[in-house]
Amino acid sequence: MISVTSMFAPVDTDLQILSDNLKKLIGARHELLSTAAEHLFGAGGKRLRPAIVLLVSRATMDDRDITQRHRRLAEITEMIHTASLVHDDVVDEAEIRRNVPTVNSLFDNRTAVLAGDFLFAQSSWYLANLDNLLVVKLLSEVIRDFAEGEIQQLINRFDTNLSIESYLEKSYYKTASLMANSAKAAGVLSEVASEVTQSLYAYGRHFGLAFQIVDDILDFTTSTEVLGKPAGSDLVSGNLTAPVLYAMEEKPYLKTLIEREFSEDGDKEKALSLVNETNGIDRARELASHHALKAKESLVCLKKSPSSQALIELSDYVLKRIY
Ligand code: IPE
Ligand code: IPE
Ligand code: MG
Ligand code: MG
Repeated sequence: MISVTSMFAPVDTDLQILSDNLKKLIGARHELLSTAAEHLFGAGGKRLRPAIVLLVSRATMDDRDITQRHRRLAEITEMIHTASLVHDDVVDEAEIRRNVPTVNSLFDNRTAVLAGDFLFAQSSWYLANLDNLLVVKLLSEVIRDFAEGEIQQLINRFDTNLSIESYLEKSYYKTASLMANSAKAAGVLSEVASEVTQSLYAYGRHFGLAFQIVDDILDFTTSTEVLGKPAGSDLVSGNLTAPVLYAMEEKPYLKTLIEREFSEDGDKEKALSLVNETNGIDRARELASHHALKAKESLVCLKKSPSSQALIELSDYVLKRIY
């Protein structure tokens, strides 16, 4: 199993600087908010999104060094991601994240909503200070998309008519938009040609879709201890993801169980075992592979370098990751 961090090698030092900076950047006027926000930053996480931003930055700057703006963009990206997790955990009533208690469980929902808002607002402030209108537009769209994705997911709970297309659209809004737009923004800061920024956007979009599909598969196949967040909860909470959407085609009885919201004894267990009897998980894996391949193909515009190579390897890693 290749570890994700070994692929970050070309930007290891950059990520170290980023971690030190993130905590300083939060600086809230109110102790409670900074404690709540810092809590998750301190716990870490894979730092996948800032790593992509930094790798794209290095890959598009050729022989020149990356700028302070590239670094700030990577920090903003992780800040937006963390804010979205704080809100997502309220919506999902999740108790652990990154192997530590979530903000909503350590404090309460009110504090978590405010802490998430605070992080979004703080990231917008740093974003505006990049003084690049196109980058501001790209990243503000991400914040709007995240809310759109969570709302779509909420209103489609237990809806067995949900199509794969709608599921992918929601996944773009929730997850891939951040990767797509931040990769593109890194190219914009490097002042590369617009064909290149378009390809970087495509890379992030396909990468993000593959990443979310794999995450949705892991929810069925991995234990809570390994994930560092609750496993097996998507289906039960009515969030119908790729494996279930495919499984319903083979086992119509699954729809009955979902439509009555698992209200009878043993419904949940029955539904989970039905999914496992189908090709749902395999077909979801194929869908993820398709997007990972598309991501890789989008990178042909980049010159070969350790950073562009790492971006290619990341699209393979996304399919193999176990947590
Ligand atoms: C979690 O993202 C949210 C999803 C899009 C599935 P990560 O798995 O990258 O979370 P951290 O940052 O490593 O905790
Ligand atoms: C992904 O939501 C989190 C965001 C994109 C904000 P999920 O609910 O699918 O992911 P986990 O399982 O909480 O990480
Ligand atoms: Mg969640
Ligand atoms: Mg969620």
